[in-house]
Amino acid sequence: MVEEAPTTWAGLALVVGPGGIGAAVAAELKRTCPDLKVLTAGRHGPPASSLQLQLDLQNDSDLDGLSSSLRAQGLPLRLVFNCSGRLHGPGLQPEKRLQQIDRSQLEEQFGINAMAPILLAKAIEPLLQRDQPFHFASLSARVGSIGDNRTGGWYGYRAAKAAQNQLLRCLSIEWARRWPLATVSLLHPGTTDTALSRPFQSFVAPDKLFTPERAARQLVEVLLQQTPEQSGAFLAWDGQSIDW
Ligand SMILES: NC(=O)c1ccc[n+]([C@@H]2O[C@H](COP(=O)([O-])OP(=O)(O)OC[C@H]3O[C@@H](n4cnc5c(N)ncnc54)[C@H](OP(=O)(O)O)[C@@H]3O)[C@@H](O)[C@H]2O)c1
Repeated sequence: MVEEAPTTWAGLALVVGPGGIGAAVAAELKRTCPDLKVLTAGRHGPPASSLQLQLDLQNDSDLDGLSSSLRAQGLPLRLVFNCSGRLHGPGLQPEKRLQQIDRSQLEEQFGINAMAPILLAKAIEPLLQRDQPFHFASLSARVGSIGDNRTGGWYGYRAAKAAQNQLLRCLSIEWARRWPLATVSLLHPGTTDTALSRPFQSFVAPDKLFTPERAARQLVEVLLQQTPEQSGAFLAWDGQSIDW
């Protein structure tokens, strides 16, 4: 067995949204980057998780308090990885046709899948430094690709992920000027066995459904290869670029 070289990433890492993929990403970062202190943040974690920060991304006062909570850790911020998102929930179902479009469902989709990641970036920006490398990654979805949309449906989720892509692409351009060592990445995890995908898994071949641990391993591997020159990329779990 080939031994993996430990990475040189050091400092503080924040994983937001410790759901199926987020919790596995936090564990994978701890495994592969021993010099990172990994914190998780969310509304609530899985029963055995060690959620360190209470953070509702749709609550402005939580976001306002985030930079001081992170600063109190006394370490340079190296990574923020947004693993939050929502496809369905109480009163929220992905639309199959136009007549199922509903204003409040669209607002919910955009609130968490599009606005939350850019507001998270705004909240942590005061911790960035021009001479320190920093990565901001956020989970998007291939179905958010407009160019790749051949089947339609899921109007709100698709559109909200496309909006996230545009917002973070803008961010990558601004940060390239202001924070030249920052890298912004939009990542598609592949279909993964979590609460989010569970109602829709009957359409997925078993060999195409990743465990959260496998998804996390692949995502972290792609993330660790990203450099400021590639900032603003929309990439799949295998490192392949996805059409906008
Ligand atoms: N699973 C897949 O097949 C798949 C495929 C493509 C893309 N993705 C994307 O991958 C990401 C992670 O999905 P997952 O499969 O891990 O889903 P998941 O298990 O449902 O996890 C989603 C996480 O987002 C959190 N979240 C939702 N609203 C929040 C808020 N306002 N503030 C803070 N956290 C909030 C949830 O916390 P609560 O428990 O508090 O709601 C949960 O921890 C999502 O962006 C999803 O769109 C997943």
